[in-house]
Amino acid sequence: MAQPRDLAQQSTAAIHAGYTPSGDYRPLTVPLYSSAAYNFPSHADAVEKFALRQTGFTYSRTGNPTVSVFEQRAAALEAGAYAVATATGQAAVALALLALTQGPKHIIASSQLYGGTVDLLTDSFKDFGIRISFVDPDDPAAWEAAIEEDTRAFFLESVTNPLSTLPDLPALSEIAHRHNIPVVVDNTLATPANFRPLLHGADIVVHSATKALAGHGQVLGGVVVDSGTFDFSDPIRWAQIAAPRARYAGTSLLERYGAGAYSMLVRSKFLHDLGPTLPAASAHGILTGIETLSVRTAAAQQNLLLLANFLQAHPAVAQVHHPSRPGHPHFERAKRFFPRGTGSVLAVELHDEALVSAFIDSLEVIVLAANIGDTRTMIAHPATMTHCRLSEAQLADAGLNRAVLRISVGLEDPADLIRDLDRALNAAQAATREESFA
Ligand SMILES: Cc1ncc(COP(=O)(O)O)c(C=O)c1O
Repeated sequence: MAQPRDLAQQSTAAIHAGYTPSGDYRPLTVPLYSSAAYNFPSHADAVEKFALRQTGFTYSRTGNPTVSVFEQRAAALEAGAYAVATATGQAAVALALLALTQGPKHIIASSQLYGGTVDLLTDSFKDFGIRISFVDPDDPAAWEAAIEEDTRAFFLESVTNPLSTLPDLPALSEIAHRHNIPVVVDNTLATPANFRPLLHGADIVVHSATKALAGHGQVLGGVVVDSGTFDFSDPIRWAQIAAPRARYAGTSLLERYGAGAYSMLVRSKFLHDLGPTLPAASAHGILTGIETLSVRTAAAQQNLLLLANFLQAHPAVAQVHHPSRPGHPHFERAKRFFPRGTGSVLAVELHDEALVSAFIDSLEVIVLAANIGDTRTMIAHPATMTHCRLSEAQLADAGLNRAVLRISVGLEDPADLIRDLDRALNAAQAATREESFA
């Protein structure tokens, strides 16, 4: 199916890309192929497929027809050329970066990232010998200054978790490409309904499909989408892709797959060897959700603006962190690059850390949970939950303090959400006043 050419076609791609009814029954929705393995018509056919000389499904760790529809749909939504699905968003980030940094090499990463990604980079990747420099995403010159001879990736979130800041992707991509470094962007919070990083300089996009792509909170999933346009042809710099390898019978992936070489490395080596495969049933669940991505995103963003206005006016609130707020340093960038919105996450900073627990515990509609992009509105306290392993210095670099809460805005009636917030903020204020009198 043809790639959608502009944002107006996103909702069509979300419903149709990657699938056309066929076969005896012509099922209208994507069938769930629940099979671990595939029958080969002959031994010769099996030999060709295992040797990767012929395409086709062999074993569901590296490919499944239902998962493949999700991959094609994700590629279409992101204006990419290739996609590899993974068991989780965490696996998508890990595989996308491992495929670039074997050796081990160096990564420059934004200091404002989801806490689990920080854990991956600072702990597990460090143990693998991969070095990370964390840099302020709003300071392109600092990214250039951090480049080392063996830097092999820039990594950032297009909309950061949880503060929804907006790094200057075109500026960072220009720097990266001048140094032959690919740019990997986590587009989970933005969603392709709002923003497509590959059209603004990124080379590779990753998602936690667990979030808005699925939208129902019932499954975990991830995906790596490749533009197919980064120049991986230097066999010294990109030995895994451009140099002959014993694993590929003395040929290079580039020779065999051309522009698809990077995604074949992710699939045929990292997904195959490490095994974080997206289950077909989860792909099926994500496909169901993805069909309504653009309407869900638009509705959640409308709710978000109402909640942000209410919160900013409440006396318990010090600040609402969201680029839709006039005066936010990225207000103009949001209008220019994210005319539809930046997703459904906002952060609210209370006047006093002491209000946090009573506020959370007084909520009745909004639920305390470590997820985002769901139909229901969820709250989390980053410093003690999603970002709990960050040091005080890392928290400060991420722009976080202990009075900040993340709210992922859902699809409930906004009047109910605002009443809930009002009641809980007032209850928290009353509780802290009582404590200070006691
Ligand atoms: C921005 C971002 N990237 C990646 C992940 C990891 O995704 P998953 O939980 O599906 O492994 C998350 C999870 O919260 C996230 O918020």
